[in-house]
Amino acid sequence: MDLKIVAVLFSLIFRSTFAYAGGLSLNFYEQSCPQVEYIVRTSLRSISLTDPTTPAAILRLLFHDCQVQGCDASILLDPESDIFQTEMASGKNLGIRKRETINTIKTAVEALCPQQVSCADILVLAAREAIAMSGGPMIVVPLGRRDSSSPSNFRQADASLPGPNIGLDATLQLFAKKGMTVAESVAILGAHTLGVTHCFNLESRLYKPEVDKIDPQFEIFLKMSCPLGSFTPNSSFIVNDPTTLSFDNQYFVNSINGLGVLRIDAEMPLDPRTAPFIQTFADDQEVFFEAFSSAFAKLSSSNVLTGNQGVIRTYCNRLY
Ligand code: HEM
Ligand SMILES: *[C@@H]1O[C@H](CO)[C@@H](O)[C@H](O)[C@H]1NC(C)=O
Repeated sequence: MDLKIVAVLFSLIFRSTFAYAGGLSLNFYEQSCPQVEYIVRTSLRSISLTDPTTPAAILRLLFHDCQVQGCDASILLDPESDIFQTEMASGKNLGIRKRETINTIKTAVEALCPQQVSCADILVLAAREAIAMSGGPMIVVPLGRRDSSSPSNFRQADASLPGPNIGLDATLQLFAKKGMTVAESVAILGAHTLGVTHCFNLESRLYKPEVDKIDPQFEIFLKMSCPLGSFTPNSSFIVNDPTTLSFDNQYFVNSINGLGVLRIDAEMPLDPRTAPFIQTFADDQEVFFEAFSSAFAKLSSSNVLTGNQGVIRTYCNRLY
């Protein structure tokens, strides 16, 4: 047999048997819910027509789910749950929006395939649709996650989620724990090509001198947008990049130009470990998309429950 064909065959076999550890697979719902990807896509598209900021919110929702204990849909549990204080009670989740969107999609999925598809998988599928429908890559994601039945609480969320002023060392460590290279860690932060930052999350960077140096022109703009002592720090916000609704490489161009909104956005182009990747992604959107896709695959399969672990919730916001 031709060596090339052998290599292709080998990589196909390798992919389907070994690449997705922890029991995830590409054809998980082939028998039990073949329509699931289509339902998620069409539901998210129609919801986003009424609120075009939905994709940004869903993408951050996925990060905050996966970062605390693992991608187990624990962030979707209502904070007023009487059992214990859920992740949403953490101040680090300020600005987390659109949890109800996942409930809406779940209801549509339940109508066709009752008790088959986990909320954790729906959130991952919704996030990949959010990226694709905003102009980003269409990422292939393995499925088969289960939902937590013993979810983490607000203390674990406080401890695991990065604060708004996290620096580069801690950030690289955080993503290295998910198996990401430095290139992938830089790429995954390109998610900040979408969405907004509330003034509350910028207060310390803007008004506490010890955080980091901000480009003086940009600092004036930020301070005008988020004045000290404002009564609305939790509702006023600024956009993360000028093309806030498009998943493109503008975030990298912006940060090179000193327009990074968060400390981490501003530090990456200045550090020799990350600067080359920032430049590469700013120059070539396709290279960014490739690195982002592999980083997203790692993020979305971190610490997943599979097989007989966990449960498939009927309502994503409730344990029972
Ligand atoms: C060191 C890591 C990170 C830090 C410190 C960080 C911090 C933040 C902060 C403070 C905001 C503003 C939230 C608000 O005020 O409403 C934000 C927004 C956002 N983040 Fe991150 N983030 C990080 C990593 C990520 C990752 C890995 C993703 C996705 C894969 C992500 C996706 C987003 C998105 C899409 C928004 C906009 C949300 C919206 O408009 O509702 N972030 N991030
Ligand atoms: C804004 O949200 C934070 C975190 O949830 C909270 O601690 C703070 O009291 C809120 N501030 C206002 C003015 O509502």
